[in-house]
Amino acid sequence: MRIGVLTAGGDCPGLNAVIRSVVHRAVVDHGDEVIGFEDGFKGLLEARYRKLDIDAVSGILARGGTILGSSRLERGKLREAAANADQLRRDLNLDALIPIGGEGTLTAAHMLSEAGIPVVGVPKTIDNDISATDRTFGFDTAVMVATEAIDRLKTTAESHQRVMVVEVMGRHAGWIALEAGIAGGAHGICIPERPFQIDRLCEMVRERFARGKKFAVVCVAEGARPAEGTMPYERGEIDAYGHERFTGIGNRLAVELEKRLGTEARQVILGHVQRGGTPTAYDRVLATRFGWHAVEAAHRGEFGNMTALRGNEIVMAPLADATSELKTVPQHRMDESEAVY
Ligand code: F6P
Repeated sequence: MRIGVLTAGGDCPGLNAVIRSVVHRAVVDHGDEVIGFEDGFKGLLEARYRKLDIDAVSGILARGGTILGSSRLERGKLREAAANADQLRRDLNLDALIPIGGEGTLTAAHMLSEAGIPVVGVPKTIDNDISATDRTFGFDTAVMVATEAIDRLKTTAESHQRVMVVEVMGRHAGWIALEAGIAGGAHGICIPERPFQIDRLCEMVRERFARGKKFAVVCVAEGARPAEGTMPYERGEIDAYGHERFTGIGNRLAVELEKRLGTEARQVILGHVQRGGTPTAYDRVLATRFGWHAVEAAHRGEFGNMTALRGNEIVMAPLADATSELKTVPQHRMDESEAVY
């Protein structure tokens, strides 16, 4: 078989572990040829690729980022590619394509699959918001980084009797904020799924100070919003890819808390720190299993699917299910923590 692999969208710890696993299973075990497209779908459309053998993936398991490079591609270009899918497949002589990516990538993969390209997707995102899989690799690493940040911020907050607002990633889903907030013992957690109540947050901080605990940490997802009309907030502009450019809810919240409480507040934006660096052991294992199963699915001809974790097992899920809606934090998970405002 000739298998193409690419990484698209925002990077994520564990991408290299998937690439390595695909090569190990396909080249070493099956005797396949594997080619890696550079810079995501751009490399596919421009036929920019290199052969991946065992040496090409040596030593990358623990490395963050992606050895293939990644990019976001405008939808228009992908539609064009889908319209010429037959030609593309013939030109590249592909028996299978394994795109590794988040919601945007899997939507593109679905489009190409519908147009006749034999696709097996692999889901990735630190946000953990892809339906049809219990977990995505990268999430565990991001939660670990954010948890460590909260731990560290608590000691400096306490020394200065401050409120620390830590902004984590999570455009549409609050998984990182929720789990890092719980693991780090944040006193307030704000997520996109529930518009937060600034009054209640202020009340919580006042109560803490009254009890002699003269500091607080609030963990806020970048996509979190205040409840309508409760505090000044302006939405960000929409970029060329249809994504909102966030205006910094962490900063807004810190300013507002300081004003209302008369207590010093600071904000920390973790941003891409959460996406960089070495993946945790959990993410390396999940990424490796996804790569192995993607190759097996290609050999069985189970195209139009993606690898998914259900419980402890890896199964194949239709790409259509994966991209139909985002997996956001359900009510019962919010109810489990008194810190969600
Ligand atoms: O989708 C993953 C993600 O990390 C989001 O949480 C975040 O909003 C976005 O990527 C940032 O993307 P970029 O690297 O393009 O700024």
